[in-house]
Amino acid sequence: MKAAVIYSYGKPEVFQIQDMPVPEIKANEVLIKVYASSVNPIDWKLRQGMLKYVFGSAFPIVPGYDVAGEIVKTGAEVKKFKTGDPVFCRLKNKYGGGYAQFAPAREDILAMKPEEISFHEAASVPLAALTALQALRDQGKIKKGDKVLINGAAGGVGHFALQIAKYYGAHVTAVCSSRHTKMMDELKPDVWIDYNTSDFLHGKEKYNIIYDVVGNKNFFSCFSKLTGKGAYITTQPYPSDFIQVGLSALIPGKSSHVIWVKSVGKDLEFLANLVKEGKMVPYIDKTFRLEDISLAHEYAESGHIEGKIVIEIT
Ligand SMILES: NC(=O)c1ccc[n+]([C@@H]2O[C@H](COP(=O)([O-])OP(=O)(O)OC[C@H]3O[C@@H](n4cnc5c(N)ncnc54)[C@H](OP(=O)(O)O)[C@@H]3O)[C@@H](O)[C@H]2O)c1
Repeated sequence: MKAAVIYSYGKPEVFQIQDMPVPEIKANEVLIKVYASSVNPIDWKLRQGMLKYVFGSAFPIVPGYDVAGEIVKTGAEVKKFKTGDPVFCRLKNKYGGGYAQFAPAREDILAMKPEEISFHEAASVPLAALTALQALRDQGKIKKGDKVLINGAAGGVGHFALQIAKYYGAHVTAVCSSRHTKMMDELKPDVWIDYNTSDFLHGKEKYNIIYDVVGNKNFFSCFSKLTGKGAYITTQPYPSDFIQVGLSALIPGKSSHVIWVKSVGKDLEFLANLVKEGKMVPYIDKTFRLEDISLAHEYAESGHIEGKIVIEIT
């Protein structure tokens, strides 16, 4: 099979497109013929070597956690899915492995691809939308009427978080630049703050949840902007954030959280239903062919993506 492989950490050019053996599957896994993947920041952070002390360096590495495709083989213990099913998921393998024509996946991380969206759109959903859902629902305990601020509302995680928060009936404040005026006009947050002209930390408003997807604030800087039991949630697992999580646990009231996304098939089914009902729409900024993966990573690293970057795999 064709795959985008790295043999060392470095710039986007370290990718090589080459033939690899089709992965073997275990009894509780399926083999997915991958039609599309997507780029998440963890992919380029991994490629740069930023995570080498966490993940090690077992080259060759095929990155890419998101996949959408068709099941071509099922293990003996697989019950819910069958050959031919169109599915999507966030792969649970250490380095991903989604930038390839085939990928193995456990059945408990899969969901059926909604008919309403293409494989390209489906591949843009899993990692980013699971991160949005699990943070708001499980850590923020979001409920109707909550005031929720999303810092970084136009990117992969942020644009899903905005839509999920609205689905839960929250009053949503979106923070992003005016590059994303059209997207914000369409997604209709209750309040939109352009971070180039004002800083939400200087406003009077208090929030039940501040979801810092960008990670350029912290629990202490947001403290006075949280309501009595407000939650600050960051996607950035910096050591200082874990210290703040620990400290906040000692103080009753406001809390600090670091989200670490999990591959959960049931959560993905929930998100698939939101897509079916038109309550969550994936935005695709650009699509690149697998052969152009270096260009896709270069673009992703610019940091001003609107929605998601999709990788087309034929
Ligand atoms: N811990 C986890 O489990 C987990 C899971 C997923 C993601 N993450 C992390 O979360 C971060 C975001 O991920 P992502 O997929 O959303 O990334 P992304 O799609 O690359 O996010 C890009 C967005 O960030 C916005 N942005 C940049 N600077 C900003 C600022 N100062 N204020 C507000 N918005 C700003 C950009 O908007 P403008 O164009 O307006 O600047 C752009 O829309 C990454 O660091 C990623 O590694 C962590």
